[in-house]
Amino acid sequence: MDRRQLLKHSALAVAAFTFSRDLFSREAEKIIAVNGFADFIKLSSNENPHGPSPMARKAMVAAVNGSNRYPGEVTTQLREKIATLYNLTKDHVAIGAGSSELLGITSLYAALQKGNAVAPDPTFRLWMPAARKVGLPIKLVPLTTGKVTDLQRIKDAVDAGTKMVYLCNPANPTGTVVPAAELETFIKDMAPKCVILLDEAYTEFSDEPSMAKMVNDYPNLIVAKTFSKIYGMAGARVGFTLAQPQTTKQLNNLQPWANAGASAVSLAGALASMDDKEFTRFCKKENQKARSIFYAALEKAGMPYITSHTSFVYFDSTPYGKDVRQLLESHQIVGARTFEDGTKWLRLSVGTVDEMQKVATALNT
Ligand SMILES: Cc1ncc(COP(=O)(O)O)c(C=O)c1O
Repeated sequence: MDRRQLLKHSALAVAAFTFSRDLFSREAEKIIAVNGFADFIKLSSNENPHGPSPMARKAMVAAVNGSNRYPGEVTTQLREKIATLYNLTKDHVAIGAGSSELLGITSLYAALQKGNAVAPDPTFRLWMPAARKVGLPIKLVPLTTGKVTDLQRIKDAVDAGTKMVYLCNPANPTGTVVPAAELETFIKDMAPKCVILLDEAYTEFSDEPSMAKMVNDYPNLIVAKTFSKIYGMAGARVGFTLAQPQTTKQLNNLQPWANAGASAVSLAGALASMDDKEFTRFCKKENQKARSIFYAALEKAGMPYITSHTSFVYFDSTPYGKDVRQLLESHQIVGARTFEDGTKWLRLSVGTVDEMQKVATALNT
C-alpha cells in the first residue's frame, strides 16, 4: 500500500469526522499496526525496532503449544528471576499485562484512599483518564524551563491529601533525567508521606541507575518497569512493579487475578529475554547510533533538541518553518507528536539506524 492508498483508506475510516492530521496519524498507525506495511516507518510509541530478542522469539514459539494451560508456574519463575536481578524476593514483584496495567492499579489504589495525586506535565498520561474517573484528582506540575521534572515544585504541590506522586525517570516525552542523587533525596523526603510511583520504562537506555535499590527501605516506593522497551516486547504485554511485599499485596488485591494478566507465551518470552544480555546491549548501542543520526539531522535543520536518555527525542520544530509532521508523513514516516499545547515541540521515537537515516534525508533535503 502506498501513501495515496493509505490516505484513501484512512479517509474512509474517518469519513464521519472532520479530517485532521492528528486523526490521520492515528488512523495511519492503526492501519500500519493491522497490516504491518513494510514501506511505512512507525516512530510513534517508542517501540524497540529490534525486538523481541532471538531467545525470546524461540521461547515464545515453543510456549505456544502449552497455551491450553493457565500460566501458573512460569509467572512465579519470572517473578523469581526479576527479584534476583534486583536483589529482592518474588514477593516484591507484581506482574501485569504491561506496566500500564500496574500504573493503573497503583492510581486506583491511591484513589481508594480518597485523596489526590501529583504528576509532572507533560508526562506519560495513559493512566490518568481512568484514575480521574474513579475519583483521583491529579495536580499537574510544569517542568523546569529546561524541560526536566521539577522536584521542588512537585514537593510544593504535595499536601495532606496527596496519596500518590507519579514520576517518570527518564522522562517521557522529553527524554530528560533527574540526577540520581536528587531523586534519592526526593524519595527519602516524600516516601514517608505518600506512594511514590516511579516509572522506569526507559532506564535501561540511560546510564542512570534504577531506584529499585531503595525499595527495601521505603514501603511507599513502587518502581514500575516493562518488557516493552529495551526487551522489545511491547506487543507481548508484560510489565512489573517492585515494591515491599505488603505494598505489592495491595496492588495484587486490585488485580482480578494476581499476576495473571500476561499470557503464558508472553511470560516465556519475558523470561528468555532476561537471559539475552547480548540483545539488550545491542539495542542500547543501536539506539545511541540511531539517535546520533537524528541529532545531526536536527542540528543541520536548525531545530533545537533535548539530549535524550531514552528511545525517543524531543525537539522544537519552530525554527524549521515547514510542518515537520506533514513532511515526515509525506515520506511514509509516522509518529511525530505534540505534547505541549501552543508549542511546536515534537516527540519522535528512535527507530533503526536505517530508519533514522531516512528521517534525516526527509528533514535535510
Ligand atoms: C513512560 C512509560 N511508561 C509506561 C509505558 C507503558 O508500557 P507498557 O507497554 O509496559 O504498558 C510507556 C509506553 O510507552 C511509557 O512511555
